[in-house]
Amino acid sequence: MTQPTREDRFSFGLWTVGWNARDPFGEATRPPIDPVESVHRLAELGAYGVTFHDDDLIPFGTESGERDKIIERFKGALEETGLVVPMATTNLFTHPVFKEGALTANDRGVRRFAMRKVMRNMDLAAELGAKTYVLWGGREGAEVDGAKDLTAALDRFRESIDTLAQYSEDRGYGLRFALEPKPNEPRGDIFLPTIGHAIAFISTLEHADLVGVNPEVGHEQMAGLNYTHGIAQALWQGKLFHIDLNGQHGIKYDQDLVFGHGDVLSAFATVDLLEHGGPNGGPAYDGPRHFDYKPLRTEDITGVWESAAANMRTYLLLKERAAAFRADPEVQEALADAAVPELAQPTLGDGSYEELLADRSAFEDFDADAAGARRGGQVRLSQLAVEHLLGARG
Ligand code: GCO
Ligand code: MN
Ligand code: MN
Repeated sequence: MTQPTREDRFSFGLWTVGWNARDPFGEATRPPIDPVESVHRLAELGAYGVTFHDDDLIPFGTESGERDKIIERFKGALEETGLVVPMATTNLFTHPVFKEGALTANDRGVRRFAMRKVMRNMDLAAELGAKTYVLWGGREGAEVDGAKDLTAALDRFRESIDTLAQYSEDRGYGLRFALEPKPNEPRGDIFLPTIGHAIAFISTLEHADLVGVNPEVGHEQMAGLNYTHGIAQALWQGKLFHIDLNGQHGIKYDQDLVFGHGDVLSAFATVDLLEHGGPNGGPAYDGPRHFDYKPLRTEDITGVWESAAANMRTYLLLKERAAAFRADPEVQEALADAAVPELAQPTLGDGSYEELLADRSAFEDFDADAAGARRGGQVRLSQLAVEHLLGARG
């Protein structure tokens, strides 16, 4: 079934379809889209949710009377379509005030302004029923190492996130926070550059239980890392609070392609993990399938909606392929042949090393040469995955 429904829980940022394709080298190639129009079009295409940065909905500096009108109009569109707002976030990167950082800017006034900007949009997020608040620190970083006290920056990051979590608790918002790692762009180097850095940082927070990650496919791949491995660790640590799906071709600028339009074999592994990596082969992640992509700059408005639909259709096709892969008896046999299920068995016999030390077959009588000469069976698995992906089997 490749027709998306609300049950698939697909969501899109207003800034994705709404990107007017201005880039560092050229002017916009498309007119702006009214957020209300985006809500209607996304609902027609089968999405269930829409997300936004404060400034995507309410332009920076809008006076409060006008702000209220915009919010009312947006709420009207949500009511008409039934679309929900599962997540919201803050733009802490466009305005020049954030050129040297936001929550970790050297200038304390900028940091205090940034915190207030986040808190104000958290009020709106809670009002609209959002459950997750994303923090992407696009300007939190540096080009000049000596221009930043790097450990003080981490102190300020921790201070901000703990304060925002406390604010959510005190107001009864019940939000969970998801830090979004990215190695670089727009800053030369961004703080908390990968999933691993973010999870290690979270363990130092007072409100660590309220904070997880929002990993984006392209961001890990920009660092040459394996996205599926990264989200597997986040899942294993109970930290995959949200997800940004898109496509990327290796180590270069952030492409934000349609999901699956970059490394498609990796996208297959990601969907297989999300849909089959949980208990008894079920889903490992039950949150929104959120797309954070940019329609190509070459496209007109038709291409915008084509690309939005393409994200969902690609996800569903990969989901179908992953299910067929898992159900194929030859795949099950190949998995067993490659000893994949054996990894779930603990290494120790009875939980203590005494048993291991007493077991002569584990060491003294162990035939390391025979084990080293054993057939791997991994090429067969790899080919089976490729064949399922290409639709060559079942
Ligand atoms: C990027 C980022 C951003 C963030 C978004 C949330 O592509 O560099 O993904 O799009 O996800 O701004 O704050
Ligand atoms: Mn990106
Ligand atoms: Mn993102």
